[in-house]
Amino acid sequence: MLMHCRLVLRCVICLCLVGFTAAKCHPEKCGSISVSYPFWINNSGCGYPGFEITCEKDKVTGMLAPFFYVNVGNYTDGKLKGNYKDGFLYPYKIMEIGYTGYLVIDSYYNYAWTCNNTFGTTYFHLPSDGSFTISNSNKFVVVGCNTSGTYSFGDLGEVRCVAICDPQTDRPYCRYGCCEINLPNNWRSIDFTGGGMFPIFNSTDKKYYNECGFSTIFDPSTFKILDNKSNIYWGDGSEVSYGLRLNWGIGLQNCSMAKATTKYSCSINGECIESPSGGGHVCSCLPGYEGNGYFNGTDCTDIDECSDKKSNMCVGEEGGGICLNSIGSYNCSCAKGYQGDGFRNGTRCMSTSSNRAVFPAIIGSVSSFVVLCLAASLVVWWLKRRHFKLEERRISSVSCGLVAKETPLQS
Ligand SMILES: *[C@@H]1O[C@H](CO)[C@@H](O)[C@H](O)[C@H]1NC(C)=O
Ligand SMILES: *[C@@H]1O[C@H](CO)[C@@H](O)[C@H](O)[C@H]1NC(C)=O
Ligand SMILES: *[C@@H]1O[C@H](CO)[C@@H](O)[C@H](O)[C@H]1NC(C)=O
Ligand SMILES: *[C@@H]1O[C@H](CO)[C@@H](O)[C@H](O)[C@H]1NC(C)=O
Repeated sequence: MLMHCRLVLRCVICLCLVGFTAAKCHPEKCGSISVSYPFWINNSGCGYPGFEITCEKDKVTGMLAPFFYVNVGNYTDGKLKGNYKDGFLYPYKIMEIGYTGYLVIDSYYNYAWTCNNTFGTTYFHLPSDGSFTISNSNKFVVVGCNTSGTYSFGDLGEVRCVAICDPQTDRPYCRYGCCEINLPNNWRSIDFTGGGMFPIFNSTDKKYYNECGFSTIFDPSTFKILDNKSNIYWGDGSEVSYGLRLNWGIGLQNCSMAKATTKYSCSINGECIESPSGGGHVCSCLPGYEGNGYFNGTDCTDIDECSDKKSNMCVGEEGGGICLNSIGSYNCSCAKGYQGDGFRNGTRCMSTSSNRAVFPAIIGSVSSFVVLCLAASLVVWWLKRRHFKLEERRISSVSCGLVAKETPLQS
């Protein structure tokens, strides 16, 4: 009977485990980047709709890298440029996946560029019903001596930014011709224009004269100069890198609304955070846990704070401290013979056994006393010896003198 029960129990546990692991979406690797829920690469059905990314060979580096496709269009004076037309899906290289609700994509090829008083237009359209939006940490930046650019959203009007040939407008990312303005938060699409050499702004400085110019959108905090040519106009050669920051959230409901429904996507040890995209929610891990906080992800696991000195506040073993890891937390205490709370920022650990504290002190004082005595007697002995030697020498020299004086008499 007991055997039978055990067998049944084991099977139930087995089934539970199988059911449990089957729902979990495991991280996938693309190059050096780990991709986990809600993002997914190949494992269709194990990720959130709209969060699919591709793992492709990056044409610039030749290495595998994750890419995110966005609808783009690119026109020059109303005429289609290159292969892009509105509705074309362009692969943006992913620079960083933030599981708390953001995604940074490479914005280097995301520009509107023309020359000689024309306007280039670029469309950047995220799905209007999707989970992604453009963050307001990005700026609209117009680059070039005598360059003008605008951005617009549907019929809501146009915002213009004009870059004049003035070093006072310098930014880390452009010299002699730089204009930047804020973008509103969480728009899903933007159309922007840019073009160079507008005759209204006469440039006398030939060094920076350029009939071409461009505009782009990016998060200034991601801007990096990759070579040392930082003192020249951006369009003229510095190798640079910068990204566009997108916000995202799961579903359309915030934490409290989602919690009441079956659409809630955080795991038991996960914590719900309001999405920076303004709609939906994201999941992270409770304090003391690490991992993926989504129900369909791999969940959060306990952090063993004791295995790493930097993650705990316990007095080390050498100071009589004990660190005890617990699920979601840890505790400090002191070993036998010590008193205190065991916390480095608390009462630490003090030795309680009196011998231990007093004995070394006694030994210390006794030994120093002995050393002092020895040194003193050594000095006394040496002085005495010296005195004796001097006396001896004096006697011998006197006797020598006597001898010397006596010698001639003798011979
Ligand atoms: C701009 O116009 C000038 C003068 O007409 C011409 O020499 C130059 O090639 C043009 N530049 C471009 C990039 O079209
Ligand atoms: C989690 O996975 C289950 C089963 O595959 C699916 O029905 C559910 O919609 C998923 N939830 C989320 C938030 O993706
Ligand atoms: C930590 O350990 C101390 C001493 O053993 C105990 O008094 C205290 O309740 C513990 N704290 C927690 C949060 O477990
Ligand atoms: C010491 O640090 C721990 C962990 O940061 C904290 O929980 C505790 O309250 C601190 N204790 C004191 C006395 O500040």
